[in-house]
Amino acid sequence: MSDLQKRIQDAVSHPKNLGEMVDADSVGTAGSEGCGDMLRMWVKFKEDASGRRVIDRATFQTFGCETAIAVASVATELLSGKTVQEALEMSGNDLAAPLGALPPMKIHCAQLVESALRSALEPSPAAQTVLAESAPQTTSAPRSPTLRDSFTPAAESGRPLRMVFKSPTKAE
Ligand code: FES
Repeated sequence: MSDLQKRIQDAVSHPKNLGEMVDADSVGTAGSEGCGDMLRMWVKFKEDASGRRVIDRATFQTFGCETAIAVASVATELLSGKTVQEALEMSGNDLAAPLGALPPMKIHCAQLVESALRSALEPSPAAQTVLAESAPQTTSAPRSPTLRDSFTPAAESGRPLRMVFKSPTKAE
């Protein structure tokens, strides 16, 4: 097993910042057309000692491959303390850097994380409407939709929910 594979396995075995963030300030979702994987990232901001608005923490959920999980895990750790501008300047390779250089066939896995981050930091008005509408009416704490929630409205509307599982086209 290569050093890269070992680092990916370690990150997958002990993922950091995995899960929905109930008090997130922003949420972004990205999907890969190439493989069908999805990743959602939640971001919470804070003001640092010099008055800059920086990322306090970031969390993620994914229906994705092991590389996407590993990149999201290390990326969410890298993001803490960064301004929005600093975070937006990070490429997929930057976000995956703690794992080492990814092979060409896995670059899109890091780009999936980058896209979800960009979606959270440059959210569309529609995405933020979803975030606001997902807040419970009985408490002041907003609740960000999980990836599973994304599928719930169709199921509750009575429309059949059809999920198609495809064989992986690429080795992990
Ligand atoms: Fe699809 Fe890695 S994100 S194979």
